Amino acid sequence: MEALYQQSLAAGAIDFVADFAEPLATYVIGELLGVPPEDHAWFHTHAKQVVQGLDPEVALEKTDSSIVRSRIRFVRYFHQLAGQRRADPRDDVLTDLVVDDGRHCDADARISDAAGPDEVISSAVLLLTAGIAPIVDLLSCGLHELIRQSRSFERLAADPRIAPSVVEELLRLQPSVQCPVRKASTDVTIEGTDIARGSTVVAVLGAANRDPAVYADPDQINPDRRRAGGHLAFGMGPHFCLGAAVSRLLARAAFIALAHREPKHLVEDLDPVYRMNLMVRGLERLPVQWVAGKSQDSGLRMT
Ligand code: HEM
Repeated sequence: MEALYQQSLAAGAIDFVADFAEPLATYVIGELLGVPPEDHAWFHTHAKQVVQGLDPEVALEKTDSSIVRSRIRFVRYFHQLAGQRRADPRDDVLTDLVVDDGRHCDADARISDAAGPDEVISSAVLLLTAGIAPIVDLLSCGLHELIRQSRSFERLAADPRIAPSVVEELLRLQPSVQCPVRKASTDVTIEGTDIARGSTVVAVLGAANRDPAVYADPDQINPDRRRAGGHLAFGMGPHFCLGAAVSRLLARAAFIALAHREPKHLVEDLDPVYRMNLMVRGLERLPVQWVAGKSQDSGLRMT
């Protein structure tokens, strides 16, 4: 994080999405999976292509070109890396997927019991695609929200202990995954609405998270809310997000560090550019500049 900050400081004005949030999220997910540092630049380039492929519009336009090539490279790469981890286990998620040493779960729940080579690769690619985009969205939409509601940003800079509740508020206000889709397995009535078996149901998490019957003054960041964390940004039930803990940790560290840096909009009245994607909501661009003069080191570093 410190290296990224220094680079962007040297550049002056940056696009926070492309120059900060994406490299940071890719680095963290790459490290988690076990991508060696010397491959990080390669990983970042191709991860970006693979993640872009989630966007239906981009995927349709680029089906036969760069996205497909990056997917193929990824599959080959993870096949190779999985082989290395089998021979030489490390402390990373890929090792957990390929080596069954029973460290993590009881005998009924070992991941690697069920994971054949194809499942290992698809799990690695799933973690990559499910993980990077929503972290980028949380960092960039969260920063934009904090710039708009600068009182909370100032409070965070003055008291980093409120970071966990600030991050919960940012998750509530800016959930990246907007619309999980389900099929009703039986006839059911929810709050007076009949849903027939077989119907497709779309839950709009962004609306639930701003429900005025649940949250007073729902559009405001309020780190003092009693129900901080009661939001649906990570879903709920058996499909609750696998990456919630790492996302929370990373966002807390990032926003504490950024609060010390005092980022400002490059152009105050510039409308942020949102991606055209119904399912995964986020910013395409967020121009910021770092304000020099009060850049005390937060002491937080990603190593
Ligand atoms: C701010 C960041 C994130 C947000 C807002 C988010 C949001 C969500 C949501 C709403 C779901 C439930 C989808 C549904 O019910 O259909 C979900 C599931 C999932 N997430 Fe995340 N996610 C985030 C980060 C991550 C990360 C970092 C990873 C991996 C490292 C990850 C991996 C997954 C996986 C594998 C599932 C599927 C779980 C299952 O079906 O059992 N997510 N996420």
